[in-house]
Amino acid sequence: MTFDLLIRNANLPDGRRGHDIAISDGRIQAVQPQLEGDAGRVIDAAGQLVSPPFIDIHFHMDATLSLGLPRLNISGTLLEGIALWSELKPLLTYEALVERALRYCDLAVAQGVLAVRSHVDICDDRLLAVEALLDVKKQVAPYLHLELVAFPQDGYFRSPTAADNLARALDKGVSIVGGIPHFERTMADGAASVKALCEIAAARGLRVDMHCDESDDPLSRHIETLAFETQRLGLHGRVAGSHLTSMHSMDNYYVSKLLPLMAEAGVAAIANPLINIVLQGRHDSYPKRRGMTRVPEMRPHGINVAFGQDCCMDPWYSMGSVDMLEVAHMGLHVAQMTSREAMRYCFDAVTTNPAAIMGLEGYGIDVGCHGDLVLLQARDPIEAIRLKVTRLAVIRRGRVIAETPPRVAKLSLDGRPGAVDPATYAPPE
Ligand code: FE2
Repeated sequence: MTFDLLIRNANLPDGRRGHDIAISDGRIQAVQPQLEGDAGRVIDAAGQLVSPPFIDIHFHMDATLSLGLPRLNISGTLLEGIALWSELKPLLTYEALVERALRYCDLAVAQGVLAVRSHVDICDDRLLAVEALLDVKKQVAPYLHLELVAFPQDGYFRSPTAADNLARALDKGVSIVGGIPHFERTMADGAASVKALCEIAAARGLRVDMHCDESDDPLSRHIETLAFETQRLGLHGRVAGSHLTSMHSMDNYYVSKLLPLMAEAGVAAIANPLINIVLQGRHDSYPKRRGMTRVPEMRPHGINVAFGQDCCMDPWYSMGSVDMLEVAHMGLHVAQMTSREAMRYCFDAVTTNPAAIMGLEGYGIDVGCHGDLVLLQARDPIEAIRLKVTRLAVIRRGRVIAETPPRVAKLSLDGRPGAVDPATYAPPE
């Protein structure tokens, strides 16, 4: 049997070891040890990890790579970031938006990210970013799944034209309804915005992904309304709450009631650890709260939790390396998810968990799945996170679309080995 591509001797994130993966016609044809057959191209994984592609479930592609335009965020706060973005918005051009987004997608593909959910700000009557990112979505479709969320950055009610603009963005093809209830003028307006936006999603048959309770205010409880509206409108499994940082500061008793409500409604949680560890706790003296939502506590309730990158070199965050392993690494630390099982979950939080939130068809490493894979310079997911390892090969529909040489340092020391591969120490399982 001759396949298009055959990967030999791969370890898989779910613990399968020494498996061969055969791909033809863009789909996985077989996954088993010592597979008979040949292929147009054979890659020897040599016991290294082959994963389904990374997914960035929460990003802002309209703002990315704009660091310093028109100035830097001096305080480093969320609110100065929002103000700075408002200064930049009127200066944006279609061409510059497309160019930055395409450049970002190149970086994402090189890092094995083959699916991105990007919020796009609709609080610009020109809808310039919407038009630009819809164009980018078409251009990158052959190699990257890009889905867009209509995001009323300045508030669905607070911004006078947001409601109209959001409807226009959805009419143009933006496929997910966003929101920002904690930024509305009052708690009541925030709750009303959640209700209105969920009703729009229900009427149009769309998913919802809302920036929700991105604050340190323990009384910011819009996630409760989001879960309620999801339940009321039958949106189970189609709704995600992004950030949910106020939950960090909430009363424990209240959270003990809230988490079962989220689980009952099938609302997923999306934490953005890189961003929230720098943005939250800004009004604290000491101790400074970490601000990330309660990831370990959600898990026993069966709430699906994913990690997103959120920002990369933009008004809110001057760092970022388009690396979902860096995101998983930070999430692991902030949530203190240090058991081996919890560390593996952090890998799932940037792969399989967001795939479920997106409802991606054919994602995974099983017969019939798309031939979309990443070969990593690591033997298992924990090592991959620990070392934020090199993506040796990125494969889309059975074709290698990015390659990076392994990271190996050459040593010139008497009596010591001539080269050091960082991924050479494996603790016992
Ligand atoms: Fe965000």
